Amino acid sequence: MTGAPLPPLVQIPPDVRSLADYERRAPAHLTAEAWQHIQEGSGTGQTLRANLEALARRGFRPRAMADLRGGGTAIDLFGRSHAAPLMLAPVAYQRLAHPDGEHATIRAATALDTGTIVSTLSSVTLEEIAESADAFAGEMGKRPAPLWFQLYLQPEREHSLALLRRAEAAGYEAIVLTVDAAIKLSGMVLPAGVRAANLAGMPQPRQTATPGGNILFGTPLTEGAPRWDDLAWLRAATSLPVLVKGMVLGEDALRAVDMGADGLILSNHGGRVLDGLPSALDMIEDVIEAIGGRVPVLVDGGFRSGTDVVKALALGARSVLIGRPQLHALAVAGMPGVAHTIHLLRTELEAAMAQLGCAKVAQITRERLIALR
Ligand code: FNR
Repeated sequence: MTGAPLPPLVQIPPDVRSLADYERRAPAHLTAEAWQHIQEGSGTGQTLRANLEALARRGFRPRAMADLRGGGTAIDLFGRSHAAPLMLAPVAYQRLAHPDGEHATIRAATALDTGTIVSTLSSVTLEEIAESADAFAGEMGKRPAPLWFQLYLQPEREHSLALLRRAEAAGYEAIVLTVDAAIKLSGMVLPAGVRAANLAGMPQPRQTATPGGNILFGTPLTEGAPRWDDLAWLRAATSLPVLVKGMVLGEDALRAVDMGADGLILSNHGGRVLDGLPSALDMIEDVIEAIGGRVPVLVDGGFRSGTDVVKALALGARSVLIGRPQLHALAVAGMPGVAHTIHLLRTELEAAMAQLGCAKVAQITRERLIALR
């Protein structure tokens, strides 16, 4: 039996003390369809499990009585200071989880000085999100946290270019080109009131099977999937830093960097695309070696605690992106829920660093890890 979803809580209950607590409570605040859409992995969930297993296989070698004085979590990316090596991953259609959607998330990120990557498929326009960030930062008397735009290439290049120019005009500081999700089989039908707000007036590809022919090949999905010449186009079209999200192999990473990519986001899209992909954590060292450490490498997929984040940093990640927990927290408690989630992660990260004997992010190295099994 399934009742109507509970409204978001106005106060965060004292027993909510971890991201897992939000995840446990979230389904009661979502429709069954939305919960399924958020949590699902593709296929048998092999990649979803790989993300968690890669973390579980690694433990710590702490240094005793390290000098922690003057420590901190700040890092620099593309000339901009980030308060911590943590960012909010691009996550589409946040109004599925809460009526305020991306407005709530960006206010929480602003309050907690956390960089955000806004999806092409946001349910609030990219301009409105940037305005929310500016207004809230103004109210709090501080500078907005770094704001990046995630680009899904559109069937018409003029529409991709329009999105790029809009992001530049709205003050976004980097462009993330996601290359792994053109072929994604999803049965989700958006409920009334939730739409791809940025794409009004831009036709979307449909899978139109030809009788007797292939099912996906030959349709706009495969014909319009990102190619290397699209990266060359994007690199030439903007002077903002360009990151490529959604690759796992060193040879692809090297090609992207040779073509002018300023950063990489190793990702298997939270286990939502090709089932059987390895975790970013298991690939990061090969990728960094392949590119000779020339650009920052960020990772995502299954990171749910401060100790998880430290493991990625120890393997060379410059920052870690958090996906689904944004929606869990939004559903449970809106903006305060997301703010609390980021606060929990930042607190846990600092605690883990201190317990490990690392006062600064740069001190979190491979020597701090041990194989657990
Ligand atoms: C995503 N992700 C995603 N990625 C992207 O580049 N653009 C997008 O619009 C979306 N949308 C989206 C929706 C939902 C519901 C999920 C769960 C994920 C992928 C996301 O950026 C990130 O790679 C993963 O979510 C990271 O894994 P975790 O943290 O969810 O385990």
